[in-house]
Amino acid sequence: MRSLIDILDLSVQELDALTDTALDIIAHPEKYAHACEGKKLATLFFEPSTRTRLSFEAAMYELGGHVLGFSEAASSSAAKGESVADTARIVSCYADIIAMRHPRDGAAYVAARNAAVPVINAGDGGHCHPTQTLADLLTIRREMGRFDHLTIGLCGDLKYGRTVHSLVGAMSRYEGTQFVLISPQELRMPDYVLQSMGKQGIPYFETADLDGAIPGLDILYMTRIQRERFADPEQYERLKDSYVLTPEKMAAAKKNMAVLHPLPRVNEISVAVDADPRAAYFRQALNGKYMRMALILKLLEEAKTPAAPAGLEPDLVMSGYRCRNRRCICQTEQELPQAFRRTEDGVCRCLYCETAAEREDMGT
Ligand code: NCD
Repeated sequence: MRSLIDILDLSVQELDALTDTALDIIAHPEKYAHACEGKKLATLFFEPSTRTRLSFEAAMYELGGHVLGFSEAASSSAAKGESVADTARIVSCYADIIAMRHPRDGAAYVAARNAAVPVINAGDGGHCHPTQTLADLLTIRREMGRFDHLTIGLCGDLKYGRTVHSLVGAMSRYEGTQFVLISPQELRMPDYVLQSMGKQGIPYFETADLDGAIPGLDILYMTRIQRERFADPEQYERLKDSYVLTPEKMAAAKKNMAVLHPLPRVNEISVAVDADPRAAYFRQALNGKYMRMALILKLLEEAKTPAAPAGLEPDLVMSGYRCRNRRCICQTEQELPQAFRRTEDGVCRCLYCETAAEREDMGT
C-alpha cells in the first residue's frame, strides 16, 4: 500500500508530476470536481493544526469526496490509551485514505505499517512534514519558475522544525541547490539531515547571522521557534526572539527573492513585510490545498488494488541498540519493538525517528 511518510517516498519525477497535476487543477477545477466521489478521507489530528487539516478537508471536498475525523487527541481513543497502530487498523475500516498528524516522531510510519489504506503524514513530531514540502515545491515553482540552481536560506528553529527537514530532502535532489542554515547554535539542523546533505555533496553553510546571509539568497524560508517541543521553557524564552524579518532586512535581499513560511507565524516575520510582493507565504498556504488534492488523487488511484497491512519492513536490526530520542513514538507505544536501520555510513538509526541509536552496552 503506497503511503507518504517521508518526502523521499516520492521520486523527483513523481514530485514534478504532482506539481503538474496541481497546476492543472488550478487551471481546470471543474475537471476534478467529482474525481473522489464516494471516497472518504479520515483526518486524524492528535496535535493542533489550522492550515494542514483544513486544507486536507477542503482538498477532499473539492474533489467531490467526504471527510471524517478528529482535531485533537482528547476526542479520540488515544485519550483512553489506544495505540497508533490500533487506531490505524480501525480507521482503515471506515475510510479510504488517512491524513494523520501526531506529536511523536515516527508515528505516521507506525500508522502506515498497520493501516490497510494509504496514510499521509501530516506532521510527525519534530521529524517530517512531507505535505508542507509539497506546498513549498508548488510555491517555488510558481514564484521562481524553476527548481534548480537555487540558494535557499532556512532560518529559525532548524532542530524541531519538521518542515525544513522535509524541504531539505526534496530540494537536495535538484541540480545546483545550496542551503544556508541560519539558526542559533542550540537549534541547529539535526545530524541525520546534515549527514544526508554531506553524503549527496549538497553545499551547505551554517551561520547564526540572518543579515549577513540575506543578500545571497534566492529563497528565504522562515520558521517559528517550536515552543511545544522544548523540554526547557527557559531555553524557549531565551531563543524565541532570535530572528525577526523586517522591511529593513528585506531591503538587502535580491529583488526577486521569495519569502516562504509554513505558518503559523508568531513574530518572526513582521506584519509590515506582508505587503512586499516577495512575501509568498499566504500564496504558499493556498498552494498546499492544490498539492494535497493532487496527492489524494494519486494515492487513491494507486490504492485500487487492495493490500494487507505491511507490518515492519525486513532486514532490521532488532537488538543491541536503543533509541535515545525521548520524543520518538517507540518510547510510548506499548508493544512497538525498538528497531533500527543500518545506514550506508554504518550508523544504526531508529527506524521511526532516524536518530542515531545508542549501543545498549554503553550505559545511559
Ligand atoms: C508547520 C507544522 O505544523 O510543522 N505548520 C504547518 O503545517 N503549516 C509549522 C509550524 O507549526 O511551525
